[in-house]
Amino acid sequence: MQPRRSLIFTPGVRPEMYPKALRTGADIVTIDLEDAIAPGDKDTARERTLALFVDPPATGGVEPIVRVNSLRSPEGLKDILAILATETPPPAIMLPKVTSPEEVLWADDLLTGVHAAIRFHVIIETCDGLDRAYEIARASDRIDSLLFGAADMAAELRVPLQWEPLLYARSRVVHAAARAMIDVIDVPWLDLDDMDGMEREAKAAAALGFTGKGAIHPKQIPALNRCFGADPDAVAQAKRVIGAFEANPDGLLVVDGKLIEKPVLRSMYRLVALAERAAEQGEAK
Ligand code: GLV
Ligand code: MG
Repeated sequence: MQPRRSLIFTPGVRPEMYPKALRTGADIVTIDLEDAIAPGDKDTARERTLALFVDPPATGGVEPIVRVNSLRSPEGLKDILAILATETPPPAIMLPKVTSPEEVLWADDLLTGVHAAIRFHVIIETCDGLDRAYEIARASDRIDSLLFGAADMAAELRVPLQWEPLLYARSRVVHAAARAMIDVIDVPWLDLDDMDGMEREAKAAAALGFTGKGAIHPKQIPALNRCFGADPDAVAQAKRVIGAFEANPDGLLVVDGKLIEKPVLRSMYRLVALAERAAEQGEAK
């Protein structure tokens, strides 16, 4: 299980930043071809980004994802065609501005055969996408997470980029991802000078059910890993439950007189994976 507590964006035009981003402590590095790239730089960003995967640096357990352009745009089509043409594709792509499950299926079909292993992460940030968030989450087995794109969503909803006006949209994305049993990652906090504000929002997002949050600067990562990390007592309890399950996988799982059901067991594995990842990172520093 891949922990997804924190995700850092790095621009596709600056490939030299990628190896550095892999060492920030973030669980995911997303190389952006979309909104962080000026229209005139799209071809350069695409070429430089795909070149990174020809002889990729060791990731140390970090998950690399390339954010392509919307598949309903010429740039997005070029991105997908370039990925189809390379023998060394990125392991995962992020699909922005998705409006329907068909759009995801279409990407899945296109990549089937040549690049069947590529994973998907889908941003919910349009009114149509929000309306069909659960169907989108279930559209393909390749999808590992939904992301909440607050900036685009706020513009579509005609509301300011603030917590309260976006609460319904955030909650709906969490519900869709939880129902589909995939991760759900909140938008980055954009004010680099307001670290307290970021931590407040990260805690609120974690309480709402998000499994992680994006970042635009390495200094934001430790707080995110803390806010979305596992509580030590809960980890110890999870280890006991997993131990009991693995000792008798075919029986009913009863710990401390309580019946533990499958979804709970799954969340316990997730907790332990998070804790192990945090411990690995602690050792690496
Ligand atoms: C992210 O893509 C956003 O629109 O906030
Ligand atoms: Mg967006």
